[in-house]
Amino acid sequence: MSTAALKAQSMGQPLDRVDGRLKVTGAATYPAEFHPAGLLYGHLVTSRIARGTITAIDSAAAEKAPGVRAVLTHLNAPKLPEPPNAQKAEGIRLEQRVPFSDARISYGGQYVGVVVADTLEQARFAADLLTVSYAAETPALRKEDALETKQPAETNGEKLQFSKGDVEAALKNADFTRVEQTYSTPTETHNPMENSATIATWESPEKLVLYDATQYVKGAQSIVARAFGLKREDVRVICPFVGGAFGCKGPVWPHTLVAAMAARAVGKPVRIELTRAQMFSGTGHRSATSQRVALAASKDGRLQAIRHQSEGFTSPVGKYVEACGIGSTHVLYDAPAIEFGHTIHTVNIGQSSFMRAPGECPGTYAVECAMDELATALALDPLELRMLNNSPNHPTKGIPFSTKFLGDCYKVGAEKFGWGRRQAAPRSMKDGRLLVGWGVATATYPANQWAATVWMQLTADGTALVRCATHDLGTGASTAFTQISADALGLPTAKIKFELGSSDYPFGPVAGGSNSTATVGSAIVLAARALQQKLADLAVANAESTLYRANAREVVVVGPGRLGLVSNPGKSVSYADVLSAAGLPSIDAEGELKEEKNAKSAFQSFGAQFCEVKIDPDLPLVHVTRFVSVMDCGRVINSKLGASQILGGIVMGIGMALEEETHYDPRTGLPVTRNLADYHVPVHADINAIDVTFVGEPDLQFNAMGARGMGEIGNTGTAAAVANAVFHATGRRVRDLPITPDKLL
Ligand code: MOS
Repeated sequence: MSTAALKAQSMGQPLDRVDGRLKVTGAATYPAEFHPAGLLYGHLVTSRIARGTITAIDSAAAEKAPGVRAVLTHLNAPKLPEPPNAQKAEGIRLEQRVPFSDARISYGGQYVGVVVADTLEQARFAADLLTVSYAAETPALRKEDALETKQPAETNGEKLQFSKGDVEAALKNADFTRVEQTYSTPTETHNPMENSATIATWESPEKLVLYDATQYVKGAQSIVARAFGLKREDVRVICPFVGGAFGCKGPVWPHTLVAAMAARAVGKPVRIELTRAQMFSGTGHRSATSQRVALAASKDGRLQAIRHQSEGFTSPVGKYVEACGIGSTHVLYDAPAIEFGHTIHTVNIGQSSFMRAPGECPGTYAVECAMDELATALALDPLELRMLNNSPNHPTKGIPFSTKFLGDCYKVGAEKFGWGRRQAAPRSMKDGRLLVGWGVATATYPANQWAATVWMQLTADGTALVRCATHDLGTGASTAFTQISADALGLPTAKIKFELGSSDYPFGPVAGGSNSTATVGSAIVLAARALQQKLADLAVANAESTLYRANAREVVVVGPGRLGLVSNPGKSVSYADVLSAAGLPSIDAEGELKEEKNAKSAFQSFGAQFCEVKIDPDLPLVHVTRFVSVMDCGRVINSKLGASQILGGIVMGIGMALEEETHYDPRTGLPVTRNLADYHVPVHADINAIDVTFVGEPDLQFNAMGARGMGEIGNTGTAAAVANAVFHATGRRVRDLPITPDKLL
């Protein structure tokens, strides 16, 4: 973008969360906690089969149960004017089927009805009385029985099938060292603390308000408006706080449409909050993957060929590609010959979707394990192999990265971790009777910057209000935006109020793809520049002002809340004086950031993940005892919250490596692991010291802050670092996650 670099005053400081007190005192109101007058409660009824047809529904008992106001099924649900469709509305809709549109069942857990009652307990009780009969068919659950298998051409504008050079010849070249293996990852399910929920309130037949747990208020507004044939501005979506999301709240899922349908049917506000079990079928998941990776390197360790064929799953009611090759082979290492491809199988499992670092997370697992195997085959240190293949250029686009400090990540990480003391042979390092393993992997995530508009108002008392329809998923985005606003306006953070989470505010994109800091931050800078221009114009026009008749273009921020001359900063006026002299209580401005395509540079963050595991040889439970992560994400807006993002990503990556796995019953296709006792995520006892460091410089080619997002990169490379450490400790190469003790016996 064209704006000049923003000077860092607040940026970089470890400011406490601006909403921390609200959150810990319970004063933060999450969407499901709103309570419009007359609120009723809906409980969703889910299919007990994964494939087939509903043959009959007996709702008599449910309708007569205490407190019940309505029972909706495909037999009586209102038909929506148009099916929602991601191609025709802004926003994200992965499950294309309109809920309750017919008797067809495409996956286990599909909604077959909703019961609305005066209380949640009454709704749940009555839901159990709803009798649904099915003609079940054998569900397709594995790729061997897939309903359809495809090799899609592209996703989000990136080619899914790519080839350069002669991979086959390089893989056959007898002078090269070659490895080829298949790596697999299981289905993983997003498990934010806050379950998905929507409260729908019809203020009139044409006006709808949704309190919706979402990563994309403007997307939900657009999709719901289209589904119900409403004007976009007649749908308001409110979501001031999000209790975690990891991607599952990016798309609009069926429960949101059901809430609006049910509220219309009963003429009252209706709340639908998913149960934890329903989160395992109704709000997406990370597809299982199977990835065949082949690498060839010359004896000096330089990569000569990379082949990466990835398979994943989608559902019969939508399309989604887990783009492992795009997330890894596309960007990680250069080689004369590179080939990647993606194959997608349609099965009777709920719609797969994006989950934190989609593509990158499973993709870096496979490629970074293969790199470790290549290091073994070459008898090279695995870190050295990576350093040898660190390229300043994007491997498939052939353009340079704007900045890339991956070499520093490797170096600083190795030093902090003590990598130089590593003994190469597996099973050679011990701590008493415990096997010790050290593993390394590269992390990477693209830097995204999309479109957003920010509105900003400066008041005569010297405070500023800043608004954008963006989101804080728990990442600390509100705090980062406060810091950027402070520096952009030349005010202390205490004078800034940043508001988000409402579709009433100017456009903000989905809080996904780690884009928000860059996107909204850049729009904040534009808004602040526009506002300061207005102030400068007022100051030079005021005969009483010290800046009277100065050139407005030479007026800049010279101190906290003060404008002055670039040539003579001592000649200055306060914002407050400019406003009072002009007789204005406040002044406001907007900054609109458009998405820009830059064909000259590639914007990408990198990092190095170092892991130590200790394993009892008799009971091979893997303990991650130390983790060192060094990241290059450009400027870090908030050192504390930035490090927390990386740390959280690493915890998630450790879960992926060792614990997380969604199982589906092979007969019924229903998710079996559907609570947090059966679906294992890391708990406190699983996590030890995690050391996060940032290196590199602000990426000022990317934006005025020099900041690239960091919401997702933490859980890339992590699972590979753990798996590689497990190999080093035990000599056993586990290629299918999670690495549970049975696989090491
Ligand atoms: Mo995140 S998976 O890009 O919402």
